[in-house]
Amino acid sequence: MVRGMKKYNFDELIDRHNTDSFKWDMNLQYFGREDVIPLWVADMDFACAPEIVEAIQERANHPIYGYTGRPGKVYEIVHQYLQNRHDYYFPVEWLCFCPPGLINAFYVLLKIATNPGDKVLLHSPNYGSLVDIVEKSGRIPVFEPLIHDGTRYHCDPESFRKTIKIEGIKAFILCNPNNPTGKVFTKEELCSMMECCEEEGVLVLSDEIYADFIFLDYKHIPAGAASAREVPGCVMAYSTNKGFNLGGLAMSSLIIPDKHLREAFLEEMEVAQTRLDTLFGSVAVQAAYSRAQSWLDECIEYVNQNKLFLNQFLEEFLPEIRATDSQATFLLWLDCSEMGLDNESLKAFFVQKAGLALSWGDEFGPGNDGWVRINLATPRRVLERALEKWRDAWEKEKTERVNNV
Ligand SMILES: Cc1ncc(COP(=O)(O)O)c(C=O)c1O
Repeated sequence: MVRGMKKYNFDELIDRHNTDSFKWDMNLQYFGREDVIPLWVADMDFACAPEIVEAIQERANHPIYGYTGRPGKVYEIVHQYLQNRHDYYFPVEWLCFCPPGLINAFYVLLKIATNPGDKVLLHSPNYGSLVDIVEKSGRIPVFEPLIHDGTRYHCDPESFRKTIKIEGIKAFILCNPNNPTGKVFTKEELCSMMECCEEEGVLVLSDEIYADFIFLDYKHIPAGAASAREVPGCVMAYSTNKGFNLGGLAMSSLIIPDKHLREAFLEEMEVAQTRLDTLFGSVAVQAAYSRAQSWLDECIEYVNQNKLFLNQFLEEFLPEIRATDSQATFLLWLDCSEMGLDNESLKAFFVQKAGLALSWGDEFGPGNDGWVRINLATPRRVLERALEKWRDAWEKEKTERVNNV
């Protein structure tokens, strides 16, 4: 193929209504209105990679869909992919699977390796379900703020170390790259956090679900591979749910270096009858990791162009809003504090006045009021329409304020 030529059509508008889509068919339930444009849950509106669709169709042609095992070739494909894409070489024995998903895997690991009442550290902002599993398992979340410099987020290593020691932290859940900020942690940041956790005997659960979705000038570093020292207490988790948008097919893979933790985890999977894969999940993961990387790379570039488009739109029509400079993910974290609305009024503005369903700042841990997260993985025309609705509603709101209506 000629360099720069596009092979896939991300501009295609596909109606997802009446597909039981969590993003498109649950508007009334979650936002009280059918007609909002949903740009909240991290799910893409693009046709799946044709390489994956073909593999599923081919398997679907065989009319028996019984229990599905996990042959050696599945381990090989996932192992190869993770090594090649992230330059991280690890023994294949460390690889485990958790068909219900990454969040389920972390919930199980937390229950195995910590006790009720133990303190678990997380960054803020952070993906809300990671906080939920801490609370719902009876552990106590402790938040370490990421520092916002007006454009990007950074870690404060001194503060991190102090919190770990003073609070007596037992586990650290890292979101690497970070959802919602799109931060790719640097080698130095990761080394410093991993070394501190190792010294203090803190288990690290590193959610690397967005590792596939990194913009061109950046590189994902698996948390356990950042430092030259082995970090046996660091579990890393991956999935095709984000990069390849296979959330409906329920698969995730984990690297668990510590033998005892790995055995305990596999035993739990056995007890919970989750040792088998879902048939189409397994087919899709194999196709994604072995054949769909060119789709993924084009998708990242399309989303990057959406980000540039949004930034230009904000500059021209919504200068009060400041977008974080993201380095990864198809999400964008927006500071709306200059709109001068409290949390509830901000939600009401977007849903009732602009007709947009976004993710709200207070879902991402403390200190995030006035922020929203927008999902950019949608055809340009949908994003453009959403931004126009935001601009028009905001113009109206400002006029009403001036006229004191
Ligand atoms: C950071 C992060 N981790 C995990 C998940 C969910 O993973 P799974 O569907 O495998 O449980 C999401 C979904 O949005 C996410 O953003």
